Amino acid sequence: MLKKPAESPRARDAPTEPQLVEALNRDGFVHLAAREMRALLGPAASWWDELAESWDDLGVDRYMADGGRYRRRRHAVFHVRAGQIDRQAHQPHYQSRDYNPLNGGVERWFEAVLMTTASHPILRRLLKLGDGLFAAADGYGLPPCWKVEIHQFRIEAADQAGRPTPEGFHRDGVDWVMVMLIDRRNVADGLTQIGQPDGQSLGEFTLSAPGDAVLLDDRRVLHGVTPIHRISTSKPAHRDVLVITFSAPHDAGRTPAAAPLSADLPYS
Ligand SMILES: [Fe+2]
Repeated sequence: MLKKPAESPRARDAPTEPQLVEALNRDGFVHLAAREMRALLGPAASWWDELAESWDDLGVDRYMADGGRYRRRRHAVFHVRAGQIDRQAHQPHYQSRDYNPLNGGVERWFEAVLMTTASHPILRRLLKLGDGLFAAADGYGLPPCWKVEIHQFRIEAADQAGRPTPEGFHRDGVDWVMVMLIDRRNVADGLTQIGQPDGQSLGEFTLSAPGDAVLLDDRRVLHGVTPIHRISTSKPAHRDVLVITFSAPHDAGRTPAAAPLSADLPYS
């Protein structure tokens, strides 16, 4: 039996696509409150609890160069074009050391996102939302075939802090990034920080309510999350997030007006 959230999403809480595109092109990121994100999810938001429960079944990330075993995850790759979603064969996640000097430079195999999660209404809604929104923000004449990677992350805190981004302030090496909080249990801190390529702060906030989210232009802004700490030593502590990245082929035909801004342009 599927559980429904206590509060139904209200369509009027949803920012419009033009509003989101304007904010992304102006600032390089948008911070969405859970109320807004749930409204964007529409009817799919009713299945929130079922999606969140899938974070209880993730595999340990054994590639942590800092030796930590505090990160659990699953991974999947899709192609998404004009609303058409095609899951790709399971494959490794690769980041160059340019983007991830700590854990990059190797093909990392993680456990696959479960079929029930990959086909979940919320996930499909987010893929279609990003497809349309990011294509509009980038000014594509024809929708590109996005390579979309989905990452389910659980960061655990125990006697040691858990580090959501052990690589520090970084880019993922893609075009666009969605980060949505799924849950926080018995956790303090975990401040999300957004900055210019020179490190100057553009904003910081805590994703605290399930559904709180941030959309990022990964070519323009850096992101990072400060370590999380366990509040009560008698209970488990973790922070669950969904990260979805979108990359377009280099020859996908963006219009010149929507080319990435260089680092020396003002962000205000
Ligand atoms: Fe990242």
